[in-house]
Amino acid sequence: MKFRILIVDDEKNIRSGLAAAMEMDGYETVQAENGQEAMKQLLKTDIDLVIADLLMPKMTGEELLKKVSTSYPAIPVIMLTGHGTVDNAVQAMRDGAYDFITKPVNLDRLSLLIKRALVNRKLALEHRQLQDEVSKLERRRHGREMLGKSTAMVKIFQLINQVAPTKAGVLITGESGTGKELVANALHRQSPRKDAPLIKVHCAALSESLLESELFGHEKGAFTGAVGQRKGRFELADSGTIFLDEIGEINQSVQIKILRVLQEKAFERVGGGETISVDVRIIAATNRDLKTEVEEGRFREDLYYRLNIVNIHLPPLRERVEDIPLLAMQYLKECASEHSKNIQGWDPKAAALLLHYSWPGNIRELRNVIESAVILSKGPYIGTSDLPPQFHEERNDNSVSIPLGIPMAEAEKILIRANLNLYSGNKSRTSDMLGIGRKTLHRKLHDYGLENEFQ
Ligand SMILES: Nc1ncnc2c1ncn2[C@@H]1O[C@H](COP(=O)(O)OP(=O)(O)OP(=O)(O)O)[C@@H](O)[C@H]1O
Ligand SMILES: [Mg+2]
Repeated sequence: MKFRILIVDDEKNIRSGLAAAMEMDGYETVQAENGQEAMKQLLKTDIDLVIADLLMPKMTGEELLKKVSTSYPAIPVIMLTGHGTVDNAVQAMRDGAYDFITKPVNLDRLSLLIKRALVNRKLALEHRQLQDEVSKLERRRHGREMLGKSTAMVKIFQLINQVAPTKAGVLITGESGTGKELVANALHRQSPRKDAPLIKVHCAALSESLLESELFGHEKGAFTGAVGQRKGRFELADSGTIFLDEIGEINQSVQIKILRVLQEKAFERVGGGETISVDVRIIAATNRDLKTEVEEGRFREDLYYRLNIVNIHLPPLRERVEDIPLLAMQYLKECASEHSKNIQGWDPKAAALLLHYSWPGNIRELRNVIESAVILSKGPYIGTSDLPPQFHEERNDNSVSIPLGIPMAEAEKILIRANLNLYSGNKSRTSDMLGIGRKTLHRKLHDYGLENEFQ
């Protein structure tokens, strides 16, 4: 680990002298001739230690010290004094300086001081890294906690507590990004099946024939490419829970088979004669209106009623504005720690924008907006300019330019990406607007390698 030291002094000779000595000790150095420049450097590069003169024009060493210790509390600052009295130095220590050294600088003593300060810094950094890893592991083990204090969310928490211990089928509905998968996780975690697997199947991502063998497994030779026998997800989920995400996308023949699992707890592998019995709890989710799908004959009514013993409907974020501050604060903390930024909150204008925005991509969009704002933000408070274009009135994001002379597929990729951005990753809306089916959209995302951008 090579440490980088920022040297701040208005006298060029002192700066270059100190820099030369520190580079001899194996450190990297960056220089600034006043406090303002020093703050710019701190934003631009990772700095491990600051050495600053106490008396400088524009921003004095004292002011700089105060700024650094509030914005970057983990960076030690060593003050150089000489012009003033020891009193100033003592005050600097009170203001959070790591130590001070008087001019003319005794390089041996400075070198020792730096070494000691950096040992502490290294320990602090390692400690933080460990903490981050531990909290990441914890989160993975327990799953993310669902936040919310709106009446709607409190009711949902109660409903989850009530139905989780039962075996009742649950249909989770709600727009994209409202937390359907989190509800499924919570239902499984709070059930007596929690130590058995929770198997998730993303029904829209698979073609019809693949979905069938994915769910029920297949025998060797059942179809071209079926080189060996394979267990399906229902078998893998035995004694646990299966989560059928985007259930509205499955075709009639798979619908019949799922209905049979619900009624008889049995099925056959694709190409197989043996009947397999399983004990699986089925939780399904959709952001379509399944009732309409039933009315229009695309979804079996008997299956709909079987799946929908209990319905948990997640209202869109714009209908539970009370939850925005809570979620936003949580994400702010997480993202700030992830990106090592010291951010306290929002300025009032930015906060108002967050509250009044319509959030078509719901909580997923909120998270993305906050993460990018945290990355862009230059001070302790996020401002309106840190928010993405959809928050500004003079938005011009409803057209894209497609250069002539590129292949059709490239043009399509640009168009799909722009539409997904416009609808904040909402795939139903995007496929509706593009006039293609959701499956087609998923296939194209896969083909164009866009899956990871919009998951
Ligand atoms: N109540 C909540 N508290 C905290 N985080 C939440 C909450 N609801 C959703 N999230 C977060 O929002 C993101 C989207 O949630 P999730 O994947 O469950 O949505 P979804 O409804 O399944 O969306 P899609 O229909 O697009 O699959 C996730 O990062 C999730 O952790
Ligand atoms: Mg989901």
